[in-house]
Amino acid sequence: MNPLVVPLTDHPDPTAAPDELVTRAEADGHRPRFHFVSPAGWLNDPNGFSHWNGVYHLFYQYNPLKAVHSRIHWGHATSPDLVTWTDAPVALVPSDSADAPDADGCWSGVLVDDHGVPTLVYSGRRGDQELPCVAVGSADLTEWTTDAANPVISAPPAALELTAFRDHCVWPHPGGGWRQLIGSGIRGQGGTALLYESPDLRSWSYLGPLVVGDSGDRETTADDWTGTMWECVDMFRLEAGAGESETVDPDVLVFSAWDDGVTRHTLYLTGRYSGTEFERTAAHRLDYGGRYFYAPQSTLDARGRRVMFGWLQEGRTDAAAEAAGWSGVMSLPRLVTRAPDGTLLQQPVPELETLRRDHVRLGGFVLTDGERRTGLTRGDQIDIVADLQLEPGAEAELVVRATADGTERTVIRFTRPDDPHADVTLELIRTASSLDPTVDATPRSGPIRQVDGHIRVRALVDHSALEIFANGQPLACRVYPTRTDAHGVEFVGLRGRAQVHQAESWRMADIWHAPRRLWPEL
Ligand code: FRU
Repeated sequence: MNPLVVPLTDHPDPTAAPDELVTRAEADGHRPRFHFVSPAGWLNDPNGFSHWNGVYHLFYQYNPLKAVHSRIHWGHATSPDLVTWTDAPVALVPSDSADAPDADGCWSGVLVDDHGVPTLVYSGRRGDQELPCVAVGSADLTEWTTDAANPVISAPPAALELTAFRDHCVWPHPGGGWRQLIGSGIRGQGGTALLYESPDLRSWSYLGPLVVGDSGDRETTADDWTGTMWECVDMFRLEAGAGESETVDPDVLVFSAWDDGVTRHTLYLTGRYSGTEFERTAAHRLDYGGRYFYAPQSTLDARGRRVMFGWLQEGRTDAAAEAAGWSGVMSLPRLVTRAPDGTLLQQPVPELETLRRDHVRLGGFVLTDGERRTGLTRGDQIDIVADLQLEPGAEAELVVRATADGTERTVIRFTRPDDPHADVTLELIRTASSLDPTVDATPRSGPIRQVDGHIRVRALVDHSALEIFANGQPLACRVYPTRTDAHGVEFVGLRGRAQVHQAESWRMADIWHAPRRLWPEL
């Protein structure tokens, strides 16, 4: 059966009134307005992200039926600029035939250009097993046909005892043919990325584990624990930028540390890919939000930029998300570059600045103990940029989503230790973010490299989505204030002396206008 012929029982008549799920989702005040979200229902990982003939294509794990993770489809949207998106027809639908390898879901994967033929490599799910599958697309990437030979790898390597086997990173091998990594974990050892090669994307030979983690090397509770399985491995080379010297470890391997059904956090290894091995130099946290920035995927765009999306998971209960009619937010697209010390720098792509409205600028001021300063744009849809400088021993906060009486407030705190060379600590404190006791309020934090106490902070508030960038280090999270007046923004000096050299803010425009469809049409 043509996989595009969706059984009628699965979806309402496209000419009918707006889908009830869409209406319900759109009525929810926690729904972001300038982040990418699915029309309604469930969204998780970005998939097949690419820049194809000048158009950005974003596919994503999608359940159009309900805001729960079940029978996952591939949603699809396109954009000329990474800012505004047009929904395209659902690209992959789980097969109707019970014995098909993707009968129970079309899990994460990538899009590659197979000599002009758009080709998806994804994990078909049947029962509790995932196996690699392929689908080929029409020239405009809107119609997809799954391959009769699926699954293209019939079983994981027999010699290894694996914890899981799914998700794909596929690239053309310079000598011809293809290479791919499949996320996995070796029982008793740690997460891994298994390397394969193929002449044609259909017949694959197993080459071995590219690199293996060590799940015993630290406490399983550590926020850089590497987990027992690596989901959504994404390997790329960051070429040296203009004026930068060549680095000895140009390659980056991003993975999401998973453990027995629990999504932990995203990490990256820096090092060098040699063809059969990844010689690692160091491991780092990709985003200090932990599981709130998960399963990222990146692409190289036509301008030579490495652009990355991640999945901002929910921080409210499954029941609350299901009742709201939607779940899951795509992060803002991030530009990924490398700092001189080899770590990654991330910032929202500059195109997003076209959404800025009503500029406000505060000149320099000093914050001392107990001092508060307002004046920036208030709201639940704003962009804030501030240049701070903390003296050794100083502590200061940027507070967002605050009510006038302070009963709800989300605190972004910077603490500089007395040692002038030590990192500043960035903390996100959500204990008062919401009066709803059922939402997650666990803290998030991490070190920020600094020179002379300078911190350039950017905070993008989009209803329940919050993305913070401090000196290029991100912390993504979710907050759910209950009060409709939780719009306040202020700086607070807690200890020592902090200078705000300059602060700017904007209201951000909506990217969504027309009512959307659960089953978009061309
Ligand atoms: C990561 C993940 C992937 C899998 C997909 C299923 O969030 O679990 O490993 O392919 O989501 O939706």
